[in-house]
This record gives sequence, structure tokens and C-alpha cells, in this order.
Amino acid sequence: MLGTILLIIVSPLIVWFAYWYYTVQYYERYLKNIPGPRGLPLIGNSLDIASTTTILPTLISYYNKYKRSFKVYIGSQPYYFATDVKDLEFILSSTTILTKSAIYKFISKWLGIGLLTSTGNRWRKHRKIITPAFHFQILEDFIEVFNSQSEILVSKLKEESKPASVDLYPLIARCTLDIICETAMGTTVNAQNDLDSEYVKCVKMLLQVITERTFSPLLANDMLYIFSDTYRREKYALKIVHDYTRSVIKRRKAEFFGDSKNYESSVDSLGRKKKRAFLDLLLEYSTRDPSFTEEDIRQEVDTFMFEGHDTTATSITFALYALAIYPDIQEKVFAEIENIFSDDPKRNANYRDLQEMKYLEMVIKESLRVYPTVAQIGRALEEDVDWNGVLLPKGLMIYIFLYGVHQSSEWYENPEKFDPERFNAENSKNRNPFTYIPFSAGVRNCIGQKFAMLEMKSAISHILRNFELLPASPEHKILFEYDGILKSTSGVRIQLKKRY
Ligand code: HEM
Repeated sequence: MLGTILLIIVSPLIVWFAYWYYTVQYYERYLKNIPGPRGLPLIGNSLDIASTTTILPTLISYYNKYKRSFKVYIGSQPYYFATDVKDLEFILSSTTILTKSAIYKFISKWLGIGLLTSTGNRWRKHRKIITPAFHFQILEDFIEVFNSQSEILVSKLKEESKPASVDLYPLIARCTLDIICETAMGTTVNAQNDLDSEYVKCVKMLLQVITERTFSPLLANDMLYIFSDTYRREKYALKIVHDYTRSVIKRRKAEFFGDSKNYESSVDSLGRKKKRAFLDLLLEYSTRDPSFTEEDIRQEVDTFMFEGHDTTATSITFALYALAIYPDIQEKVFAEIENIFSDDPKRNANYRDLQEMKYLEMVIKESLRVYPTVAQIGRALEEDVDWNGVLLPKGLMIYIFLYGVHQSSEWYENPEKFDPERFNAENSKNRNPFTYIPFSAGVRNCIGQKFAMLEMKSAISHILRNFELLPASPEHKILFEYDGILKSTSGVRIQLKKRY
């Protein structure tokens, strides 16, 4: 009896061990000359990087140790962390290494196979369809949304600014969620005012689920996952979020086909200029190409919702933090803003004003270097790739470790110094473009980067016109964590002093 029980316990372990051993042996035939930390049997280096707080410091320590691209094993799966700029250029310029790494599958229940998660011909086709939606003439129409939502954010910050310091991220995240909702779908979830919104709660829940699955080997396993509480929460949240997007699409579609003439008109019934949302542009396209279905549109709209709010929230938050702790830099940004609005300090910013905020743009760029919102970008090799005489095997996960590249003294003198002048015209001239990639690079770069820059300038300039930013008192320490987006476990606290 005891023998049978032992056999039942030991057999799966033996199978697991054999699988791990042979898989690692297989990959090592290709990867043996690539440096990397020694791992433990069965789990590899999982213990060192399998948490939101340890992942970045550990990867940075490997980067400092090996001074070149390195490998890490999670179980039997090898990950190649590309940090050599030649590697980055090769991977990001490739028109065939387009498939995202396995981790993206945790997002795909929400986003389906939208622009972020798709690959091959589907990705190529959709990228071509969606690119015109980010034309500057379209973006110009969104400035009004940036202005009105930033206005609400300022009023919320005024309410919050009474105590010694305020944690920026939660307030800014609600503002960027409202902005993306209005620009992507033309509706409002009113996240800034309605703290009980079910949709907003469910978006947060889905972000949480993705983090939990990314860092838990048990939840990452599809067979075990369906028995978990996380699965039940995800199912509930997906229903709410998908139903919402689908109902908005149905309504806009009914308006489109019901009264196409009125819909296509550029003014509303009161003669005001009508705002087009991304969704409208996709609906218009679908009338010309019926193979672009309602479900395709849903997936792309949900992709904007996911990719377009947490990224900008974090970026705005860290840029404001940097401005609070570097008063000289803040002073220069404020002087630039005062100059732009010298004709009327109360008026709203237009597209041209935002374009003129050149120094603020340098500050945002430096902030994205020091605090890269997306710290790494994953790809999966679907076939063997010959890279400069080294054969990288099919199945290898490649991570572009841009956090490491941005902090490298090889590319940035005194990398720990916050210095926006790195991005003035003179200093930018000769920079290798692959040493600065907060929005990735190559064919799969961020399609929303111009939108993001305008939104960040709008929100930051609104806040600076209303508040002087000061470091928190007592001093606040940022404790980085990484759940796919750079965050701080201790919050990002600063003091806000009303200007009038
Ligand atoms: C500061 C804010 C932002 C940062 C730092 C950022 C960064 C990135 C990065 C690094 C990628 C490449 C990801 C990968 O290959 O896995 C990406 C892709 C993408 N981003 Fe952004 N993003 C930002 C804002 C936005 C906004 C506002 C939108 C939409 C309105 C957006 C939409 C997308 C989409 C759809 C993709 C996938 C593009 C493709 O694969 O063709 N992003 N972003």
C-alpha cells in the first residue's frame, strides 16, 4: 500500500524532472555560450524574478554582472534578455519576429487578437487599418477631451491637496481612463467622479488578474487556473467589460446605419463640431471592408482601453514626481508654459500650444528614460533564427530589456542623473535610436505614442498651471514594482501648493 502511494507521488516528479532535464539540454545546445545565472533543478531562476518587486532589481543585477545580453530559465523555458544594442536593432527591425511572448496570452481573454496580441498577416492588416486613426488631424480633435478631463483632475487634486502629500497615481489613473474611454468609444464611464462604476472596477480587476497569472506558476497553468478564485473574478469582469464595449459598438453602429447622413456630418444638431472616436473610424472602415467584423472592432477598442490608460497614468505620475524633486527643472517648464499662455493665462491649450511645449517634451522623454513605463517587451521565436552566426532556437522567449539599456552608462553619461538636456536637438542628433525605446521601435512600435505625448503634455501643463509641485514631507521613497507597467508599491507622493 505504502509502495503504491509512494509510486503515485514520485512518478509525476520523475516525469517532471525528465521533461525539465531534456528540455534544458535541448535548449542548451543552442544557448550554452550565452551567459546567465545558474538555476535550480525544475524551477530554474524562478525564485529570483517571480515577484513584482524583485524582477527589475534582479534583472538589473544580471545586466550589470554580464554586461551583455543574458539568459534566464523559468522552469525549463529559456528567456533571452536582449540588452546589446545590435541585438535590439536586429529583433525590433525584423519583419518576421513579430509574435508576442507567452505572457501576452493572459491579456488575450480581454483583448482577443487585437493589435497588441496578434501576429503575422492579421497583425499586418489591422495595423494598416488602424494607422490612419492616429493621424494628427484626428488627434487634434481629442485635445478638447484632454482639456476637459484634465480640468476635472485638477479639481480632484485641489480637494486632495489639503494633507501634507498626495498619492498621485490613483487620481491620474482615473483621469486617463476617462480620456481613453471618451476618445476610443465616444462614451464616458465617469471614472473620476463615479468611484463605484462597475466598469472601472472590472478594468482594475482584469489588470490585477493579469499580474496574478504572470507571477504565479499555479495560476499560469490553464488547467489549474479554472479552479481558482482569480478565474471566477476574471470571468465576471470580462462579462461586464465586453458587454459594455459591445453595447457601445451596437449603439454607434445603429446611429451610423440608422441615420448615416447625420452620422457622417461633421457637426451635431446644435451646429457644434462633432468629435469622432476611434470606434467611429473603425466602423466607417468596416463599411468598406466587411471582413473587418464587429468582433474585430471590439477587440481593437478593448486594446486601446488596455494599452492606452495605465501606460499614460504611470508616465504622467513619474514625470510629476520628477518635477517635484527637481525644482529648477520645474521652474523652466513653468516659464515655458507661462510664455505660451502669456496672451491669456486662463485659456485652454490647443494643438499648437502643446507642440510648442518643447522643454516639457524633453522632461517627459527623460522621465520615460529613467522611469520606463514598459520596462521590457516580449517576443517568441516561432522558428530557428540565425543571428550573426548564433542559432536562436524556436520556442525561445526574447525580452528586450529596455529598462537596462536606458540605465546603461555605455549610452548615458551619469545615467542616474535626471537631465532633460539629453533630449535637446543637439544631444539627440547622434543618438542610436535603439538606445532609447520607451515606445519600442520598428514595425511594432507603439501606435499611440503621439496621442500619449499630447495627453501627457496636456495633463502635466494643466497641473503645473494650477499647482507648484514640492517633494512630499516627510520625504517619500519610491519602491519600484513591475507588473507589466512600472509602479511604486509605496505610491508616488508629492505635495501640491495651489498657485492661486
Ligand atoms: C506613455 C504611454 C505609452 C507607452 C510608454 C507605451 C509603450 C508601448 C510599447 C513599449 C509598446 C510595444 C509593446 C510590445 O511590443 O509588446 C506599445 C504598443 C502599443 N501601444 Fe503603446 N504606449 C503608451 C501609450 C499608448 C496609448 C495612449 C495607446 C492607444 C491610444 C497605445 C496603444 C498601443 C498599441 C495598440 C500597441 C500595439 C502596437 C502593435 O503591436 O502594432 N499606447 N506601447
